[in-house]
Amino acid sequence: MSQSILILPGDGIGPEVASAAKTCLEAVAALEGLDFTFSEAPFGGAGIDACGEPLPDETLEAAQAADAVFLGAVGGPQWDGGAQRPEQGLLGLRKALGLFANLRPVKVFKGLEHLSPLKADRVAGADVLIVRELTGGMYFGEKREGDDEAFDGCSYSRAEVSRIAEIGFKAAQGRKGKLTSVDKANVLATSRLWRQTVNDLASDYPDVSVDHLYVDAAAMALVTGPTRFDVIVTENLFGDILSDEAAVVAGSIGLLGSASLGASGLGLFEPIHGSAPDIAGQDKANPSGAIASAAMLLRYGLNQPKAADRLEAALEAALLSDERTADLGGSASGSAFAGAVLRQIEKAGAFEPAE
Ligand code: NAD
Ligand code: IPM
Ligand code: MN
Repeated sequence: MSQSILILPGDGIGPEVASAAKTCLEAVAALEGLDFTFSEAPFGGAGIDACGEPLPDETLEAAQAADAVFLGAVGGPQWDGGAQRPEQGLLGLRKALGLFANLRPVKVFKGLEHLSPLKADRVAGADVLIVRELTGGMYFGEKREGDDEAFDGCSYSRAEVSRIAEIGFKAAQGRKGKLTSVDKANVLATSRLWRQTVNDLASDYPDVSVDHLYVDAAAMALVTGPTRFDVIVTENLFGDILSDEAAVVAGSIGLLGSASLGASGLGLFEPIHGSAPDIAGQDKANPSGAIASAAMLLRYGLNQPKAADRLEAALEAALLSDERTADLGGSASGSAFAGAVLRQIEKAGAFEPAE
């Protein structure tokens, strides 16, 4: 049975990293005997240029019809000040597909502690899953924008908090059993509802230990002691900010992948970084986050755990080799690093007994 993957390359380094991820998916599919069909659609700035909007109707329809959607990145200075922003397309797609749960795993691999800008002994063993609420909060609140005053409303309902907190609790059950809920309950009403809702759910998960941190303290703890965390569950804006910080704990924002999931089963998979206009078109971008997202697409989007394991192992092995991109202190181009991942995929395939 064929599974369809829609690729939205987007803008800046988006097409570069999406192409690396696609090549890896093809290689893994060949070894696992999987049948994937790929298609592409304009999105973000590329959508504005091609169709006058960041999320063209045909792109949304193609996404709804696909088995999984992969996104490179969107945005860039050329669309600043225009009537439409590329980022609106991304928010619109997340909302339209009901993707309320964004999983952003950060892991410091054994032997790669030195890639962190932090002291190696502080980050050794860090393994954190950030569960970010993705369709609520200030991103989607009431907005007013005038020359002298602007307003961004932030609202959360108990139902919205409950469903994302449940994802956090369940994720913790499958990991070390520790959930840290991050909020700003000393200031924000939405955060007090958030904290209360998480506490109300805790009795349903007696095997999970829960603690709460204010977001400012959490930002500090992520760099002073990232190993204290297992699963972090937090609202949309805090999750956005903390995940860029957490990515760098492992070495670079170019490393982190993500899965955005909802109730329908259709998922969107994208690296957490942006379109990096400063390095776009120079083959400098680290494709690791995109490749990690492709592995999450296999695991959560297409229910192909063996293929996902194979891709994750190949990525880790390639990172352990000396070939690294500039963001990790190396001199390899993005495509050379993608080639190193492909070699690892094929090397592992060569040692397998024929079936
Ligand atoms: P960014 O993530 O694009 O870049 C921040 C810094 O990290 C830059 O120095 C960049 O060169 C570097 N970087 C990012 N990805 C990298 C990679 N794979 N390899 C090596 N270095 C990498 O964030 P920004 O500069 O704040 O935003 C640029 C544009 O991207 C904006 O338009 C923003 O809205 C958009 N954006 C999009 C997404 C998305 O599509 N999911 C996410 C974040 C930002
Ligand atoms: C991300 C990005 C997006 C966000 C922007 C581009 C809308 O920063 O995916 O982390 O803030 O969610
Ligand atoms: Mn972000």
